[in-house]
Amino acid sequence: MSEEKGVTRRSLLMGIGIAFNAIVGVAIAVPVIGYLLSPVKKKSAYNQWISLGKLDQFPEGQTRLADFVNPFKRAQDGETANTPCWVRRVSTDQFQVFAINCAHLGCPVRWFPQSELFMCPCHGGVYYADGARASGPPERGLFTYEYKVEKGELHINAGLMPTLADQSKLVVIDGKGKSPCLG
Ligand code: FES
Repeated sequence: MSEEKGVTRRSLLMGIGIAFNAIVGVAIAVPVIGYLLSPVKKKSAYNQWISLGKLDQFPEGQTRLADFVNPFKRAQDGETANTPCWVRRVSTDQFQVFAINCAHLGCPVRWFPQSELFMCPCHGGVYYADGARASGPPERGLFTYEYKVEKGELHINAGLMPTLADQSKLVVIDGKGKSPCLG
């Protein structure tokens, strides 16, 4: 009888010990797994493909101004949520989509078709038609957005602001394969 009680008490304590260890294990594992997966979660949270319009809005060999609404717009953003960018159509399915901001201190650059240059009004930064730095204080070329062509429209990944940290060159044409983008 007392042996039976002993077995029951032992198995009860064993069960409590296992349950306690399981709780502690889960409490440690959840934040560690969350930390390890955070880059993946962050990337997918900021993936926001937005259409800039039909392809025929962007004639081949030309650079046109386009704009889109910031996908993370808040009520207080008002007009500032409208974000411009420069679209250069290199060939039928090759584009470059430049951030409007100068790579020096962020002033909006303007495209001058006569000279085929982007110029920055703030400190005289100049860029070639392909976004490469030509002269002035910027230390690099213009930042570019990831783009893809889908159902006859040009889309950019507007959730990921182009920065030095994320200058991937992903180009997807109608969901088929990948090819390197210019610049
Ligand atoms: S912000 Fe463009 S050159 Fe300084």
